[in-house]
Amino acid sequence: VDDDALFAVITRQRACRQYRDTPVDDATVERLLTAATYAPSAENHQPWVFVVVRNATARAEIAGSMQRAWETAGRAYSETRLTPAVLGDVDRGMTGGFAGAPVFIVVAGDAQRSAKPTLPSSIFPAVQNMLLTATALGLGSALTTIATVHAGELARIVALPEHLVPLAVVPVGYPVHPLAPPRREPFSEHTHRERFGNPW
Ligand SMILES: Cc1cc2nc3c(=O)[nH]c(=O)nc-3n(C[C@H](O)[C@H](O)[C@H](O)COP(=O)(O)O)c2cc1C
Repeated sequence: VDDDALFAVITRQRACRQYRDTPVDDATVERLLTAATYAPSAENHQPWVFVVVRNATARAEIAGSMQRAWETAGRAYSETRLTPAVLGDVDRGMTGGFAGAPVFIVVAGDAQRSAKPTLPSSIFPAVQNMLLTATALGLGSALTTIATVHAGELARIVALPEHLVPLAVVPVGYPVHPLAPPRREPFSEHTHRERFGNPW
């Protein structure tokens, strides 16, 4: 295993909020989904369910639902919490950027396979595998959860039955602009030796 290649991907992965309309073929989507399904899950129940949405009307409906959630509550909440640069980027994503992605992957958790407390934590590692694989393939992607504000609406658009809980929407496509490196604090600012309070 080439760990330098792995690190190059991990340290480049970030949210893309503006997409080209260049199509993404099924073989590429299948790479993402294969990576997703190698993730860990509680008791190996593999409760993930993916709905790959290419249909323009359905994508517009999902994007519209995200935009409404953002405009009615999300933006006001985030305005005081995000830096102006991130706020601007999220705003562009929510008000048209995400809508431009040629593929949306709706990620749901099967409540009949996994206990409620471990359902999200059994799904998001799979999502992270998708994001990393997308980065490795030169694709843009983003983990978004705002569509779950209107979970019933999202479930209706992609015909999810009651026991499948929508947890995320991952837009996938080629980025309009190359993404700058993500900004992260060093691990040492988040790490303690043996007991909390002892710096690394
Ligand atoms: C649980 C979770 C939910 C998120 N939901 C959204 C979302 O609804 N919309 C959005 O634009 N970004 C969303 N993000 C992406 C974060 O904003 C992003 O990971 C973070 O700001 C780091 O930015 P970067 O990826 O550009 O480095 C979400 C991330 C996580 C982990």
